[in-house]
Amino acid sequence: LIITITTHNHILSPLHSTNTMAHPNRLNNTRVLIFGGTSGIGFGIANMALSNNAYVTISGSTQAKVDAKVKELQSFYPNLATDKVSGHAIDLLDLDNLEANLTSLFEKVTEGGQKKIDHIAFTAGDAPVLPNIATLEMDEVLHMFHIRFIGASFIAKLLKTGKYMTQAPSSSYTLTGGTNSVKPMPGWAIGAGVGQASEGLMRGLAVDLKPIRVNLVSPGAIETPLLERYLSKLGPEKVEEWKKYGTLTGTLGSVVDTAEAYGWFMRDYFVTGKVASTDGGRLLAGEH
Ligand SMILES: NC(=O)c1ccc[n+]([C@@H]2O[C@H](COP(=O)([O-])OP(=O)(O)OC[C@H]3O[C@@H](n4cnc5c(N)ncnc54)[C@H](OP(=O)(O)O)[C@@H]3O)[C@@H](O)[C@H]2O)c1
Repeated sequence: LIITITTHNHILSPLHSTNTMAHPNRLNNTRVLIFGGTSGIGFGIANMALSNNAYVTISGSTQAKVDAKVKELQSFYPNLATDKVSGHAIDLLDLDNLEANLTSLFEKVTEGGQKKIDHIAFTAGDAPVLPNIATLEMDEVLHMFHIRFIGASFIAKLLKTGKYMTQAPSSSYTLTGGTNSVKPMPGWAIGAGVGQASEGLMRGLAVDLKPIRVNLVSPGAIETPLLERYLSKLGPEKVEEWKKYGTLTGTLGSVVDTAEAYGWFMRDYFVTGKVASTDGGRLLAGEH
């Protein structure tokens, strides 16, 4: 009989034995890339990452807007070094050139793979024109998958090469879903399906990209330009009704809150394959 005696210090990896010093700012000087970083939730994530002294790259569909949004972020942090925030455009709807354009973007952001990315948040999405199930057209259904599913999948393909992201549990890739995939409003069948597809993709990628961690944030109604377009059609009374009956907090979400969910997934090296909901309690709200 052989008995091995070992102390905790021997069996714990360096990743887990760090509670012998002040709590670290795990985003400090990390490289964070945000698809959808020019607006709404993605812009909030960029702002959160900058406040933690990360190097931030934002992306959106046009270079003019990317440049304007980089300037806006710089204006929030007057002493920011100029290399802390940058931006590159990519049109994720250009499917014919998607892989080539993504490769070119990753080459630029990482300077040919020399400056690897630590975290990617994917919040890109065009304003959903939700297909009506009664008049459904094939193109409408396929279009719903273009940015949110195909775009997110081909980014994963490039991460699998190992060239652009550090292959370690300190790295993360976070996708975006929405509460409508678990509690669809009327007219949301296709939208709900696409949201669930993103969740399945996230779980599969958590397995296929390991040790990179892959997770998904599921926001409720968050005040962004995308939601604004939807709410403006409802009118103020309906919006107040939504806040009262559609949430437990009585509020819409702020991107400042939503960004914290993405921040958790970046900072916690032990979380992968998970959904974080930030929705004001929407799933518990309403008639019981
Ligand atoms: N806000 C909510 O209440 C809510 C709730 C649940 C889920 N979501 C989901 O969360 C994600 C972010 O929503 P948001 O409210 O932050 O929306 P948003 O403010 O409209 O931002 C969308 C982002 O996607 C980018 N984008 C759009 N089309 C693109 C294209 N063809 N190529 C590349 N980038 C493109 C936009 O860039 P440009 O404008 O620069 O083109 C922008 O940065 C979306 O998938 C949305 O469905 C939002």
